Amino acid sequence: KSMFCTDDGGLLIAEFHDDTTAFDGGKHELLKNKGRTNNRISTFLMNVLAAEGINTHFVDTLSEHEVLVKYLTMIPLECVIRNIAAGSLCRRLGVEEHLELKPALFELFLKNDDLHDPLVNENHAISFGWATQAQLDAMKVMTFKINEVLSKLFSDAGLLLVDAKYEFGIDTDGNVCLGDEISPDSCRIWDAETQETLDKDRFRKDMGDVVESYEIIARRIGAL
Ligand code: ADP
Ligand code: TMP
Ligand code: ASP
Repeated sequence: KSMFCTDDGGLLIAEFHDDTTAFDGGKHELLKNKGRTNNRISTFLMNVLAAEGINTHFVDTLSEHEVLVKYLTMIPLECVIRNIAAGSLCRRLGVEEHLELKPALFELFLKNDDLHDPLVNENHAISFGWATQAQLDAMKVMTFKINEVLSKLFSDAGLLLVDAKYEFGIDTDGNVCLGDEISPDSCRIWDAETQETLDKDRFRKDMGDVVESYEIIARRIGAL
């Protein structure tokens, strides 16, 4: 995405692109219609979460590719929540993909491409001043609540929310607020019946039909 300032210091425009990267930018392609599909999915999910009482940055849809969002002072951490083992968790701990994680597993990663987004814990965040304990507590509570709401929403659409990454920032009122995007670029989503991958892993693993899969997700949840 690109983020643009507006005349109102409290608001930004987020523009969703078709650019797709993986492996910290090591792989880059333009996937036609991906930007507008992710914008639809992210806006739909942010609205569902707002109705459930989650403070989100979404303000308004401006065009197929653009949304108006609240300006946040971003906390440089990625909150990952996993319902099923996949990806870096399997590589790091040698666990089988598909292992069900109960309760869902919460992990923190430092948002730093040069360091390849290393796994960190709350003590790192506090000692290095990335977030306060109160902010971390709020991020964790919000991540679990978001996971509960979205797991149910995807399940009702015949989909499995395997894992997801959420980013938070501080809004102008000083509250922790959900920012960035929620899309198949930032989540793993499988077909509940066939376990077929429908998210960005299709791009990472050269499986093809990337945007087509994102559109399947969008249609099934009613975002398209
Ligand atoms: P990333 O850098 O995570 O790969 P993008 O290229 O889409 O993602 O860049 C979007 C940037 O804008 C990220 O650094 C993200 O943390 C930041 N961001 C997202 N939402 C907001 C917001 N509401 N206010 C300020 N910054 C934001
Ligand atoms: P991981 O298994 O690679 O750690 O990814 C966990 C989840 O976080 C997965 O849904 C993809 C998402 N994610 C991002 O959105 N951005 C990133 O930079 C990384 C590493 C993961
Ligand atoms: N690290 C992220 C991914 O692999 C995104 C990126 O590399 O730009 O999904």
